[in-house]
Amino acid sequence: MLNFSRSRNQPRAARSMSLGGMDYVDQKRKGNFIGKVFLLAALTALCILVIKRSPSFTTPSPFSVHEPGVTHVLVTGGAGYIGSHATLRLLKESYRVTIVDNLSRGNLGAVKVLQSLFPEPGRLQFIYTDLGDAKSVDKIFSENKFDAVMHFAAVAYVGESTLYPLKYYHNITSNTLVVLESMAKYNVKTFIYSSTCATYGEPEKMPITEVTEQKPINPYGKAKKMAEDIILDFSKNSKMAVMILRYFNVIGSDPEGRLGEAPRPELREHGRISGACFDAARGITQGLKVTGTDYNTPDGTCIRDYIDVTDLVDAHVKALEKAKPGKVGIYNVGTGKGRSVKEFVSACKKATGVDIKVDFLPRRPGDYAEVYSDPTKIRQELNWTAQYTDLEKSIQVAWKWQKSRPNGYGSS
Ligand SMILES: NC(=O)c1ccc[n+]([C@@H]2O[C@H](COP(=O)([O-])OP(=O)(O)OC[C@H]3O[C@@H](n4cnc5c(N)ncnc54)[C@H](O)[C@@H]3O)[C@@H](O)[C@H]2O)c1
Repeated sequence: MLNFSRSRNQPRAARSMSLGGMDYVDQKRKGNFIGKVFLLAALTALCILVIKRSPSFTTPSPFSVHEPGVTHVLVTGGAGYIGSHATLRLLKESYRVTIVDNLSRGNLGAVKVLQSLFPEPGRLQFIYTDLGDAKSVDKIFSENKFDAVMHFAAVAYVGESTLYPLKYYHNITSNTLVVLESMAKYNVKTFIYSSTCATYGEPEKMPITEVTEQKPINPYGKAKKMAEDIILDFSKNSKMAVMILRYFNVIGSDPEGRLGEAPRPELREHGRISGACFDAARGITQGLKVTGTDYNTPDGTCIRDYIDVTDLVDAHVKALEKAKPGKVGIYNVGTGKGRSVKEFVSACKKATGVDIKVDFLPRRPGDYAEVYSDPTKIRQELNWTAQYTDLEKSIQVAWKWQKSRPNGYGSS
């Protein structure tokens, strides 16, 4: 009796031999067998292709793992003016950066510049999200491994805040809470917070130190102060390293001309002095409107402490490096020198070479007469001092960028 059963150890070739006299059947089987092998190989190749293309198969994103020796910083508002400059500096210093921005005020063009400068995988990623969307923010934290957060994202115009206070409390105070909650949940260790001298209001004594009482007088300053209070209360029972940086008036742009300040045209009326000067110099506006000439200052116009953005981002990197677990550092970031609006306008005229027409108008609600910092603490503790203190030069650098990019970064 022919044994058709196959022992497990019996090789296939030997099996076919055992069917002596049945060559025809054997050939057919052989053909079937080769066909099956081909089919199997084709299917396997197809499966590999399909699986490889599915997102779950790809090797984990470098942003989703902690890599020894690499510090991954989440930069909120990184498409904006200061956030984009900070990102450039962080990337230059070999940090890994994730930008989260809703582009409500920032520019995708700035992100593209950064991506073109640092195209290597694992250096920079951009995530389009509104920080008010707590679910999305939670998802971002769950999918990425951040070592630190620099929280720049905010609406940031004093005048606008007096018109739309709720927008400011929501965007600044409530969104900071959302970010902080996610940081706590996912155990992110370091928080660098963008605060402002507007939290001090209008103190009687100048210069402003970090212990000057905070009595903000507009919703912008109040919203930032509330956010600071939340951070401070949280940090009492947390191991998080926290640095709160209270900036004075930020001006200038990247000295190499890669980035600049490009606020939305619709914000022109609430805008900052440098933007207003440039718009007047370029003939976009009729001239420059100086609001308030009867303040109690030497020339009657407001006095501010103008800090160059290059110095400001340097303060952030130093703060990041020196942040200590369970400790809070609060620092003024300014030059320590106040300049009047008239002085600023005169520097702007020189830097642009345009004899800008100036209209003097009544005071603007929410403004204060004189504000300048005492930068002693940040010098002593973080070894930081402003280097770019020539007003005209800072304006010149920013003007060069403005002139070379008449449409800013183009449409977002
Ligand atoms: N520019 C100054 O003179 C100055 C002074 C003191 C403090 N600050 C603070 O510095 C930070 C950055 O200011 P800036 O001048 O670069 O402003 P900016 O408007 O240029 O940048 C802010 C960025 O945050 C983004 N953003 C706003 N709301 C968001 C949201 N809900 N979700 C996600 N992204 C959002 C915007 O799209 C924008 O890209 C702000 O926190 C501001 O309060 C600025």
